[in-house]
Amino acid sequence: VSHQAAKPAVVAIVVAAGSGVRLGREVPKAAIEIAGVPMVTRAVQAMLAGGASRVVVAAPEAWTEKFAHLMGPYADRVQVIAGGLLRQDSVRLALDYTTGADIILVHDAARPLVPPFVVDRVIEAVRDGSPAVIPVLPQVDSLRRIRRNWTVAVDRSTFLRVQTPQGFEAEVLRRAHATSGDKEYTDDATMCEAIDVPVTTVPGDGLGFKITEPMDLVLAEVIARGES
Ligand code: CTP
Ligand code: MG
Repeated sequence: VSHQAAKPAVVAIVVAAGSGVRLGREVPKAAIEIAGVPMVTRAVQAMLAGGASRVVVAAPEAWTEKFAHLMGPYADRVQVIAGGLLRQDSVRLALDYTTGADIILVHDAARPLVPPFVVDRVIEAVRDGSPAVIPVLPQVDSLRRIRRNWTVAVDRSTFLRVQTPQGFEAEVLRRAHATSGDKEYTDDATMCEAIDVPVTTVPGDGLGFKITEPMDLVLAEVIARGES
């Protein structure tokens, strides 16, 4: 009789507690609708469709109830909590609600159109033994390093653009956050790297782009309308 290994439990953290200063709207960025569906709802849907069994959403403190209402049909698999001042604070606070997870994904609500196959790729890579996994895309523009009052070309092929969801062995992500101290990190993979965990990559997808400035919202709207 062969022993079938239990499927690892995958929990996704969707960080949605930012205000969206660069977008410049009244409401928090993650609550903004794209073709009628809020960004945070789309992000949660992508995580569940890609293989997460449940999701913890870090929302702006004054908006937790409102965000819980935005979950609609996914509400029974989503827990909405109050996020923190920095992105990494939001992740750390959400980690307390990931008990029982073997694999933890961390995804930006600001990447609402990420295809579920990217989520699945990240999960598979962690399942296959990589402790920290990031979806990446090649750098398409030329890059230059800033000197004092001039610039110097660099080889763009040595750079990658990093997306989310990033996937981690749960124990690794918990340890990274427990030892990060006051240092600021732009993402969780960098935090894992700081405790000497190797960060590996899987191919990302253009649809995983981050909505940061008003033009990004226009693009997302056009794409999402084309789908329906
Ligand atoms: N985020 C978070 N908690 C914070 C800051 C950011 O959960 N304290 C989340 C955002 O909601 C977003 C993701 O981290 O989904 C990526 O951040 P970013 O794109 O910078 O979003 P905002 O911080 O909201 O935007 P801005 O920097 O323009 O204010
Ligand atoms: Mg920000």
